[in-house]
Amino acid sequence: MGPRKAYSSLSMSALNDDIRRSLLTQIKLTQPNDEAQQPSSQPETTISKTDDHGDRPEYSNISYWQHRYTSNSQDTVFEWVVTYENTLLRSLIDSFINSVCSKLSHESQVKFLHPGCGDSTLGVDIINSDSLNVNISLDNSDGSEVVIEKMKALHPQSTWLVSDVLAPARDGHTIYDAIIDKCLCDAFLCGGVEADKLVKVKEYLKHCSQVTTDSGRMIIISFGQPESRMRFFQQEDGCGWNKNIKVEEVVIPLKDGRKNKCWLYEFTK
Ligand SMILES: C[S@@+](CC[C@H](N)C(=O)[O-])C[C@H]1O[C@@H](n2cnc3c(N)ncnc32)[C@H](O)[C@@H]1O
Repeated sequence: MGPRKAYSSLSMSALNDDIRRSLLTQIKLTQPNDEAQQPSSQPETTISKTDDHGDRPEYSNISYWQHRYTSNSQDTVFEWVVTYENTLLRSLIDSFINSVCSKLSHESQVKFLHPGCGDSTLGVDIINSDSLNVNISLDNSDGSEVVIEKMKALHPQSTWLVSDVLAPARDGHTIYDAIIDKCLCDAFLCGGVEADKLVKVKEYLKHCSQVTTDSGRMIIISFGQPESRMRFFQQEDGCGWNKNIKVEEVVIPLKDGRKNKCWLYEFTK
């Protein structure tokens, strides 16, 4: 496993109705290498009624994230909703990765993309995982160059790229075998009008389809339950993906004994 992380607090963002309903949680991580603060299996929990950045942030706008990451301390990172330490999520991610790898007869590494990585260490944790025994590469990417520079400095052994997933894939873009999204697509579904959200998710799904192989696969880990997500994921012709999407529910135990949930949506072509 990679460097141990110290979980200092967990706060709930309540930024709009969708998030309020979904009990969106954020886990604030500090001092990633501080051995004095051992991570607990479940992070300490504090719940606040408002987000750190006001009432209605524009999560789908990269300039919002640039500002947010510029304002945040450079050694403080946030992990949205759930971490790889969640046993169920971990087993689902591992089995997805194993399944992608086993269906390919690659002599070279199987290529994964972790878009909208923010300052999540999910990609680092997967690469350092002792529960996986596969030959993979993983590119972490985000639309905010501020957070990418920060993560490069914190985890120089991993790959960090600046990339806008709402832009059409450019010629020569790396083609991946699979994509792992945690809470990036959620950012397009927080606030705004339905028509804009439909367009953004459509552009996003198309982009993901363009940057994956013909047998490409994708998981989207989301705080949104299927009733609030499927109409976005099953638009028109599927935007390059099969409309038959597998859904898994992930229970997230909180330290105070309550439980939260998120969902893992698995796309194939
Ligand atoms: C809710 S955060 C999730 C961060 C991280 N994946 C996690 O789970 O902790 C959404 C992330 O998506 C990024 N993002 C938003 N719009 C984007 C876009 N158009 N292209 C690439 N990244 C984008 C933001 O910069 C932010 O880091």
